[in-house]
Amino acid sequence: MSRRDDTYPPPSAKAVTARLEAPDGNRRLLTGLLCGAALVLLPPAMAASPIENCIDCHGTDGVAAEDDTPHLNGQPEHLLVGMMNAFREGRRPPKILMHREIRDANVEPIAAHYARQTAQRPRQTVNPELVERGELLHWRHCADCHMDSGRASEKEAPLTAGQNLDYLINQARAFKTGARALPAMTERIFRELKEDDLVAIAHFYAAQAQLAPKEGRRRRR
Ligand code: HEC
Ligand code: HEC
Repeated sequence: MSRRDDTYPPPSAKAVTARLEAPDGNRRLLTGLLCGAALVLLPPAMAASPIENCIDCHGTDGVAAEDDTPHLNGQPEHLLVGMMNAFREGRRPPKILMHREIRDANVEPIAAHYARQTAQRPRQTVNPELVERGELLHWRHCADCHMDSGRASEKEAPLTAGQNLDYLINQARAFKTGARALPAMTERIFRELKEDDLVAIAHFYAAQAQLAPKEGRRRRR
């Protein structure tokens, strides 16, 4: 997880050096060089893709490269805008330096890009007993906002179905300790739930197939 810290540099000449030191450095260097070549060959309008600084971790299609990184594919566009602004404005702790540096002009294009990717997410290994218990806890505590088993969004809640298990658990812990802020009502739910319960709900969401929800489409329950 060497890329996950505040020392990750903005992509520039320095980024190539950093990528060399990453575990799969050769592939990254090659990609970097090819992108570099493309920058020279392409007309300026096409040279800088708004997601170029994101794809190492979130992929071109929004499918995350690491277990602790969220998939962004199919997340409603206005929620992606809100998340990026929360990082930029320091309302959400930016563990990743890149999140603070998203340019104003790029917020909307990045959100539009990832929102329109099919929300197909890789299957994960989950604990069936925890999934079963997590489903009950979900119905009791979370389903008002994370509707349709996390496939639909209500009251500005992000989609959680098929999200990376480690990421879900990390966020639940961050909500419980207050490291990441939530609206007051929801904060109380997290404070009162035991950590084991939050882990069980995370297994339940991670077990769901994500099926490209479309805003306005009839919700399945
Ligand atoms: C070095 C890897 C890395 C890079 C580069 C990176 N991210 Fe992230 N991103 C992460 C991780 C890890 C998290 C989870 C952060 C946390 O745990 O608080 C995250 C979280 C997010 C979230 C929150 C998603 C959610 O469901 O709440 C958004 C939105 C996001 N990143 C967008 C971007 C964009 C846009 C870029 C490019 C400008 C980018 N990221 C670059 C690793 C990265
Ligand atoms: C009253 C509505 C509401 C309820 C109830 C609720 N949530 Fe949420 N949830 C939200 C909102 C809003 C956010 C986005 C918070 C933010 O980033 O500002 C969120 C974010 C999350 C995230 C982070 C997703 C991401 O992509 O970063 C997880 C995980 C989560 N909720 C799990 C749960 C669980 C588990 C429960 C039940 C114990 C629950 N939520 C109950 C509204 C709710």
